[in-house]
Order: sequence, then structure tokens, then C-alpha cells
Amino acid sequence: MNPFQYRDNELYIEELPLTEVAAQHGTPLYVYSRQAIETAWHGYADALKDHGMVCYAVKANSNIGVLNLLARLGSGFDIVSVGELERVLTAGGDPSKVVFSGVGKQVDEIRRALEVGIHCFNVESVAELQRINEVAGTMDMQAPVSIRVNPDVDAKTHPYISTGLKQNKFGIDINSAEQVYALAASLAHINVIGVDCHIGSQITDVTPFLDALDRLLALIDRLAGKGIQIRHLDLGGGVGVQYQQDEPVVSLTDYVQQIVSRLGARALTLIMEPGRSIVANAGVLLTRVEYLKQNDEHNFAIVDGAMNDLIRPSLYQAWQDVKPLQLRTGTSHTWDIVGPICETTDFLAKGRQLVIEQGDILAIMDSGAYGFTMASNYNSRPRVAEILVDGQQTHVVRRREIFADLIAHEYLIE
Ligand code: LLP
Repeated sequence: MNPFQYRDNELYIEELPLTEVAAQHGTPLYVYSRQAIETAWHGYADALKDHGMVCYAVKANSNIGVLNLLARLGSGFDIVSVGELERVLTAGGDPSKVVFSGVGKQVDEIRRALEVGIHCFNVESVAELQRINEVAGTMDMQAPVSIRVNPDVDAKTHPYISTGLKQNKFGIDINSAEQVYALAASLAHINVIGVDCHIGSQITDVTPFLDALDRLLALIDRLAGKGIQIRHLDLGGGVGVQYQQDEPVVSLTDYVQQIVSRLGARALTLIMEPGRSIVANAGVLLTRVEYLKQNDEHNFAIVDGAMNDLIRPSLYQAWQDVKPLQLRTGTSHTWDIVGPICETTDFLAKGRQLVIEQGDILAIMDSGAYGFTMASNYNSRPRVAEILVDGQQTHVVRRREIFADLIAHEYLIE
């Protein structure tokens, strides 16, 4: 489902021309489509229907307006901090459908998660297991846990977003997992319920997912042989998305079917933690061309958006499509789309063939995931507003920051 379509050379989101949204709310601006988010979520929910639970990865887009849409659909959530947990609760999410991932959970975070009754902790080290046991002990509780196993599988994605290899900090080496499960089963305040893994993000081939799955199923069988019964299998993040038209994609239904056929007679519930594939294609970053600047080698379009608003191009050399909100006729040129920040890496796109003029507004496509959540105030730039579009209606789900927000937590010395 693509909510972004040209009609009479105007780029629309659902039933609204994006130029109207920009005129009303200014630029730079994140704009999301409710329909696209809900359709993507239903894709997972339908595929997993009788087999398990969707736990949306909050880190991809944690706006409470977005979380609220998903909570209303009955989604679970994957969180990595108490901040994300509070967002989920504020947005009306059900704590009993929350899984808590991440390598560095602090005592207060563990306590709060136990207090509200999350589904489980995805445990990433022996030291963390012991800490959870202690905290649960002080609360006279049993903490539900799943051990995040590092299956040593190459996800063949960008090295910065690959997580399932021995050299990555994540999870517990699959070769020592059995010992750790035996320890977990012996601890008074731990209730072992699951096995978890996450091998990386933006994965465009099903093979690494299935390799990891085979290794986990073999582990689950060995554990059963030792009397440790696993109830759920959490396969981590979702499938990769299309940023470029010819980019391969994993079919979700095929993937889930292949998982289910491999589960065989095992009584296991599935959990998936998709983030990117729920929100990436549902959002754009709108940015206005402030100046055009040309030398004998390069054409630069200097825009009002920058790496502090969307860091994926500079951090991962990520390619995201650029579309003018109004298509012009005329000769196209090759443009680098750059921001006003004083860094050479401050670009949103390079080498794009476009017909543009000063004052035009561009949409940086597929910016709904890891866009606003990775934004900063670098160069004292207020963070931009976020708008959720529903048909012809717009909702401001985050207002634009003002200067007072920038210094709200700073003090002059006495
Ligand atoms: N579960 C865990 C434990 C994760 O670490 C992640 C993502 C997810 C689920 C969600 O994965 P997804 O469905 O989004 O692929 N900032 C980077 C992506 C970092 C992903 C980190 N972990 C980017 O912009 O490409």
C-alpha cells in the first residue's frame, strides 16, 4: 500500500496534496500516513494470526500518536528503555504485550517493567540475568525471561545494523546458551518462557532468518531434552523494506509459512518485533530548497532539512528517494541535496536527477522509520514537527520545537 501518489503532477499523501500540509505546518516536516501504518501492521497480524504476537519495535518511530494507533489495533511492543515503556503506557499500550530488549537494562528499568507486568525480558547476558533475579527477589516476584541467543549468522545487511554475529555485542553465544538456560531455570525469581534472537535490520533475503531459526529450534529441542520447556520463540525484527524500486524484498507470508512449517509439532508461540517495515514507507520528510549553488563539478540544492533531522544518509550511506512535491517540466540536472549544518557529511541525498528551482519542496521518501527518533538538536536546530494524516485530516502529533525548548534544561552559572 503506497499512500504517496502523484495526481496532476502534485504529490499526495492519502487524500491531501503534501504542498497543503507543508503550507499549513512549515518545513522541514515529518508526515506519516495512518492508512499505510495500519496496513503494514495488519500484514504482520494476519500472517501471524493463529501463531503469535506482533511486538512493534518502538525505536523505529516512538511518537505517542503513532504508538496509540498501534495500541488501538491491539499491538504488542518491543522496548529498549524505560522511556520507551512509559511512551507505550502513555499511548494506551498493554504492558502484558511488551517485550524488553537491550544489553544494558538498569535496576530502575527492571523494577518498573516488573511493576507494570511486562510479557518478558529478553536477557542478553548472565550478569543481566542475575540482576533481574535480584530485583524480582526484592519485589517478591518471578520475572518472565527469554534468553536472546546470538546465533552467529551473517544477516548480509549494513555492518552497523547487523547484530547476530559473534563480533556483535548482542545476545548470548549459542554455544553457551544451554548452560545459561540451566542457570536461569535454577534461579528462584526467574521464570524461563522463551528463546529470542535478532540478527539485524533491513534484511532483504529470507535465508539468514531461516538459518537462525534452524539453530534456535535445535537449541529448543536440546533444552526440552533437559526438561526446560520453551513456550515462545521471538525472531526479532521484521523484514527489510524497499527504499529503491528494484530492491529485493522478503515476502512476509512466505517467511511466516516457512517458519510455521519448520516449527512442526512443537507447541511454540511466535513473536516478531518489526519496526522499520511498519513505519518506514508510511512517512516522508518534507524539506524546502533554500538555495541552488553550482560549480563546474557539482550542483548543490541547499535545503532546510539536515542530518540532525534525518541521519540515515550520513550515518549508513542509506539511499532514500527524493521526489519534488510539484513536478516541473524542463531540463533536469544532477543534484546533491545538502543541509545547512557545518559538516561535510550533512547530506540527504547525492547525485539525483531532478528538475528543481529555489523554493521548491522535496519529499525525502521512506523516512517514517529511524527518522525522527534519531533526530538531534545539533547546530541548535529545533526538532521538526510530526504530522499524521488520516484521509483528508491532519493531526499534529508533535509540535515544532522553538528556541525556548532548546535551552529549557540549561542554566547560567550563579
Ligand atoms: N528488535 C530488536 C532487538 C532490534 O534491535 C531491532 C532494531 C528491531 C527489533 C527492529 O528491527 P526492524 O524491524 O526495524 O528491522 N537505525 C538503523 C536501524 C537500527 C536497527 C536496530 N535494531 C537504520 O536507520 O537503518
